[in-house]
Amino acid sequence: MNRKSLFSRRKFLRLCGSSLLALWSFHPLEALAAKAKPAAESIGTAAKAAPVPPAQPASHGTEPVAADFDALRLRQLITADSRTSRTIMWESAAPQADGQLLWRLAGQMDIQSLSAAGRSFTEDDQTSYIHTAMVTGLQPGQHYEYRIIANGRGTAWQPLPAATAGPFKALIFPDSQCSDDYGTWRDLAQNAAARNPDTDFFINMGDLVDNGESSYQWRSWFDALAGILERLPFAPVMGNHATYDLNWKIRLPLAWLRYFRVPGNGSTRFPNYYYSFDYGPVHFSVLNTQWEELDPLRPGILEEQRSWLAGDVAASRAPWKVVLMHKDIINYEDLSSLEPLADIDPVGKALMPLFDQLGIDAVLTAHQHTYRRHDHIFNFAPADHGPFYIDTGVAGNVRYDVQVDPRFDKKVLPQPEVDNYLTLEASAQALHFKCFQPDGSLADEAWITKK
Ligand SMILES: [Fe+2]
Ligand SMILES: [Fe+2]
Repeated sequence: MNRKSLFSRRKFLRLCGSSLLALWSFHPLEALAAKAKPAAESIGTAAKAAPVPPAQPASHGTEPVAADFDALRLRQLITADSRTSRTIMWESAAPQADGQLLWRLAGQMDIQSLSAAGRSFTEDDQTSYIHTAMVTGLQPGQHYEYRIIANGRGTAWQPLPAATAGPFKALIFPDSQCSDDYGTWRDLAQNAAARNPDTDFFINMGDLVDNGESSYQWRSWFDALAGILERLPFAPVMGNHATYDLNWKIRLPLAWLRYFRVPGNGSTRFPNYYYSFDYGPVHFSVLNTQWEELDPLRPGILEEQRSWLAGDVAASRAPWKVVLMHKDIINYEDLSSLEPLADIDPVGKALMPLFDQLGIDAVLTAHQHTYRRHDHIFNFAPADHGPFYIDTGVAGNVRYDVQVDPRFDKKVLPQPEVDNYLTLEASAQALHFKCFQPDGSLADEAWITKK
């Protein structure tokens, strides 16, 4: 952190003692408790118990952040084990040296605190300061809440439920990239969240924005999720549009990597590019299908992931193994070819045999901007067993004209296609996928069950 970003302790204490203490949603003793732990180098790591007098009542669900508080785009990121941990991120327009994350069991008096690690990020003529802290030591199934404070101001308490090993519901959004102000994405996501108040976390299948270097698009994408990102853990997938610069040339996906701190993968060459996490009875492996884009800049992500995935899946004892990856496995541009496997995309050729071998139960993809349920495919052929594939569709306003592959497209939505979203309800016995139109009407559903 540079010198300009440092906010002196003296100034902080002076602010605490001033009339700012009376401002909305700030408790001075929480601030004193929050000063107890120094900032971590890169991410907050450990909690510290902080005995404090009675705290404020929970106020989440009303106004997430004080209107003039410099804490933007507050978000929860999925961690490897959502039963015990959660990553919290936010941004500020000005340096913020004293950002603190507070959390507690909902409505309880004992508050724990953690200093956030902040880094500046400049791109597309915009500078923001990105703050990250990870809550650990949660008790599975307990209802916690969190807030952040900085510069003598604070957010309202936000819900922070710790997951269990039991059933869950997730919202799944395909490509959300838009060519306008992201109103299509906003309406779809907000309506989906409102219709599914029992959602535990949500997924965006890549190409979150159309141009990965456009600060306007990123802010539009975040703004569209106001009221969702603060309260639901988010599992992002990286798509090819994350690698496009403002001139539509390929670059490393710098903004995506900065905006989303995902679980570590042990890689020194591709940290944060791919990852895995557990939720309930499912182990999710989140792959990066952008080797065509990345190889000229930083080669090797496919081979590295192939090796990593084998170990990642072998190490999991979860009943279900699900892969999330952006690019679909079907090549729709060569359907008339008589060449063997002409309609299998190079992404599919590179990964499907490994999925067969590892016993992957389901593979969710995107990228084609059309919903296609492919059903079970094994050894590159339709089957009654093997991984169950779904190309999840489109959640923004960018549409492509995609042919139908009669061999692998078992369900195609009415054309011309509108945007859509999915839910996944998972238990130890079944995965239940539902696909919905923007008005909430059911467009398709599929079950996978354990015998
Ligand atoms: Fe896309
Ligand atoms: Fe894409």
